[in-house]
Amino acid sequence: MYGIPWVLVMMTTDQAQSAQILAPTASNIELCAQALKAGQLVAFPTETVFGLGAVVTQLQAVQGIFAAKGRPNEHPLIAHVAPGIDLGPWVGQGGPHMQKLIDAFWPGPLTLVVPKGDHMPSSVTGGQTSVGIRCPSHPVAVALLKAVGSPVAAPSANRFGKVSPTRALHVLAELGNRIPYILDGEMPSVGIESTIVSLLGPQPGILRPGAVSAAQIEAVLGVAVKTHAQVKSSGTQLPRVSGALEKHYSPDAKVTVLSADQLAASKLSGNLLCVGWSDAFLTYANKQRTACSSLQIEALSNDPVHVARDLYATLRQADALGCTGVLFEAPPEGAPAWEAVADRLKRAAA
Ligand code: TXA
Ligand code: MG
Repeated sequence: MYGIPWVLVMMTTDQAQSAQILAPTASNIELCAQALKAGQLVAFPTETVFGLGAVVTQLQAVQGIFAAKGRPNEHPLIAHVAPGIDLGPWVGQGGPHMQKLIDAFWPGPLTLVVPKGDHMPSSVTGGQTSVGIRCPSHPVAVALLKAVGSPVAAPSANRFGKVSPTRALHVLAELGNRIPYILDGEMPSVGIESTIVSLLGPQPGILRPGAVSAAQIEAVLGVAVKTHAQVKSSGTQLPRVSGALEKHYSPDAKVTVLSADQLAASKLSGNLLCVGWSDAFLTYANKQRTACSSLQIEALSNDPVHVARDLYATLRQADALGCTGVLFEAPPEGAPAWEAVADRLKRAAA
């Protein structure tokens, strides 16, 4: 279930990487909760990606998140809460839509941007008067947040601009020498970051596409929701959202997104990883191997949910294999179910 046994992880890990990877036992969850309450940083799994957590009121720890990630500190963090927590101190008036979305999608991969409450420190919100808040569904995240009892600020547990981690080992590789504990758990089932919906304007708007779609939100609210494309083109609802930067989620290998026909017409050379899911793309990838013998092929299942789940591990695999480039199949254009994957690939390739 967790890929690699802990013992092996500890044996093969560089000594400079001092973070401990902990199995999600009750005592380790308690240990991590105590560490968080004492102002330490702890990485933990969610159903989307691993987060790098600090209790929101531990201001030094919150600063430590920005330092560990190398992230500009005016970028707001998402506050994670346990199911059923009293949001009163942390969140202001969320308007008529907030409770409906909480009832429909929490716990789960939906972050709400709403006015911040009096107790939410502005260092968490990047100085903004709004806060991104989310209640994850991963059982280890839920257990940890319940044990902590207050919100935990947690960006994805990667260095700024890099690929978000979906395995404890990914966190170890990037932040192992900067944090004490990495709590492990079942692999993220979603694999890409939560949908972010802003409830600040007159009309809800998608700031970051994810597993929860604009159509699903519309169905619950009974009002039109601005899609991510509409929000971007209007340019009004985008504050400092690091996930909105053009270049983000990038491995070291150069990412190229291309169609089956473009792959067929390409003259390939070098150490490349070719990732696709359609018969046409994989057929052309195999043909290309006659000219480019070092080409490696990874076939994903032809389903946007599965591609999302495997996306980041596959991008990291290109680096692990020492590839100079990764050729990723272009998702079907304009298909809502592929929007979030297309968004992450576009940024990885920017
Ligand atoms: O799935 C997720 O959301 C993961 C896991 C760990 O929960 N977290 C995550 O965090 O993706 P991060 O920091 O990598 O991305 C959070 C995004 C950023 O782009 C940030 O700018 C945006 O949320 N955000 C947070 N608060 C906001 C606010 N008040 N207004 C607008 N955007 C906000
Ligand atoms: Mg991130």
